[in-house]
Amino acid sequence: MEETAKILIDGTTFELPIVTGSEGEKAIDISRLLRETGLVTLDPGFVNTANCQSAVTFVDGEKGILRYRGIPVEQLAEHSTFVETAYLLINGELPTQEQLNGFSVLLNDHSLVHEDMRAFFEHFPRWAHPMGILSSMVNALRAFYPEIPTRTEEEEINITVTRLLSKVRTMAAMSYKIFRGHKTVYPRHDLTYPENFLNMMFDSPVRPYVIDEEVVRALNVFWILHADHEQNCSTAAVRLVGSAKVNLYAAISAGICALWGPLHGGANQAVVEMLGQIHESGGDLAPFLARARDKKDPFRLMGFGHRVYKTYDPRGRIMKQVCDKVLGKVTREDPLLEIAQRLEEVALKDPYFIDHHLYPNIDFYSGILLRAMGIPVNMFTVMFAIGRLPGWISQWKESTDDPNWKLQRPRQIYVGPNERAYVPVRKRG
Ligand code: ACO
Repeated sequence: MEETAKILIDGTTFELPIVTGSEGEKAIDISRLLRETGLVTLDPGFVNTANCQSAVTFVDGEKGILRYRGIPVEQLAEHSTFVETAYLLINGELPTQEQLNGFSVLLNDHSLVHEDMRAFFEHFPRWAHPMGILSSMVNALRAFYPEIPTRTEEEEINITVTRLLSKVRTMAAMSYKIFRGHKTVYPRHDLTYPENFLNMMFDSPVRPYVIDEEVVRALNVFWILHADHEQNCSTAAVRLVGSAKVNLYAAISAGICALWGPLHGGANQAVVEMLGQIHESGGDLAPFLARARDKKDPFRLMGFGHRVYKTYDPRGRIMKQVCDKVLGKVTREDPLLEIAQRLEEVALKDPYFIDHHLYPNIDFYSGILLRAMGIPVNMFTVMFAIGRLPGWISQWKESTDDPNWKLQRPRQIYVGPNERAYVPVRKRG
C-alpha cells in the first residue's frame, strides 16, 4: 500500500503521497497541495525542499557519504581519473576502455578555442575576476559555435558537452596567461586532460614546464572531489535557468555565476584570504575565533560548516591527505599552512564549533593545495568550476530528459503593502 502523510487544514484531512528514494530517504510529495488545498509551502533557502528526483549523486550529510552514480567518492579518488569520472557522471556508467579512449580523443579534438575569442579575453580589464570572465566567455560560446540544423538533438548535445568540458579548461588557462601578459600556450594532443591544463597554465618559452605526476594526481583528485554535489546552489541555478530551455552554454554560465559567491565556490579563495589576514595580524587566532562566535558579527570562519554535512565532509578528509602529499614535495615554507593547521586543531576543540556542528569543509584544504600547486588565488574558484562541469552537465541532462519536466517557478508569500493609489509626484510629502 502506498505510504501517505496526512495534513489537517480547517478540519479537512488531505492525504499526500510519500516518495522513497533508493537509499531510503523519504519525502512528502506536495505537488498537488496547491491544487487540492489552495495552500503553498514556505521554505526559505529550500532547506527542507527536494527540487527533483535524481539518480546522479547520493549525499548523506549525517554519515558523511558521497557517491557518484552509486560509487563512493573515496574509490573514485583512489582509482579513477577526472575524465573517467566525468564520463561516469554524464553517461551513468563507467566507460569501457574503448569508450574512454574515444571520449579522451573527442576532448582533445575540441580543446582549441576559436581564435576570434581572444579579442574578448584581451579587452577585459586586467583586474577583472576570472570567474566573471569565464561566465561571460562560456555564454559567448553559443555565438561562436551555433547550432547546426542538420545535426540531431542528441548529436548537438554531445558536441556541446564535449566542447564545454574541453574548452572551459583551455579558456581558464588562457585567461590566466592573458592576465599575466604572457603568450598563451596551446593544448597538446600527447598530454592528458590535467597535464594539458597544467602545461597551458605554467609552460613558458623561458621556463619549460616539467610535469610532476604527484601534482597531476592531486589535480585529478581535486577535480573528482568537486565533480558533483547534488542540488547545491550552482547546480540548482543550472537546473533553474536550464528549465527555461535556454541553451546549455547559458545554463552553465549561470552555474559559474552562482559558484563565484564566497558562501559557495568562492570559499576556497576566501579561506586563503582569511589565513592571510590572520598572518598579517600577527598569527593570533583568538580574535578571529571570537568574531566567528559573536552573533552580532557577520564574520564567519571560512572553510568551516556545510549546509548538508553536519558530522564531517568526506571530501575534506581526502583533500587533506592529498594536500599533505603535495605539501611534502613542495620545499617552500608556507606560513599560511601552519596557521591552517593550528586553526583546524583549535576550532575542532572549540565548544562553539562543536555545538554548531562546524567542521572543516573541502574548501579549507583545497585552498592550501591549490596554493602549493602554484595556482593564483583568484583562479581558485575557476579550478572548482572546471571540476564541477560534469556535475552541472549531468544534472542539466537529467532535468531535460525528465518526463515530469517543468519550468521552475517558485511561489512566494506576499507581505508587502495592500492595494493603494498612485500619488502624483507634486502631491508626495
Ligand atoms: N563560522 C562561524 N559560525 C558559523 C559558520 C562559520 N563558518 N557557519 C555556520 N555558522 C553558524 C551560524 O552563525 C549559525 O549560528 P546560530 O545558529 O547560532 O545563529 C549556525 O552556524 C548555522 O548557520 P547557517 O548559516 O544557518 O547554516 P547553513 O547550513 O545555512 O550554512 C554555510 C552553510 C553557508 C556553508 C556556512 O557554514 C558558512 O557560511 N560557512 C563558511 C563559508 C564556507 O566555507 N563555504 C563553503 C561551503 S562548501 C562548498 O560550497 C563547496
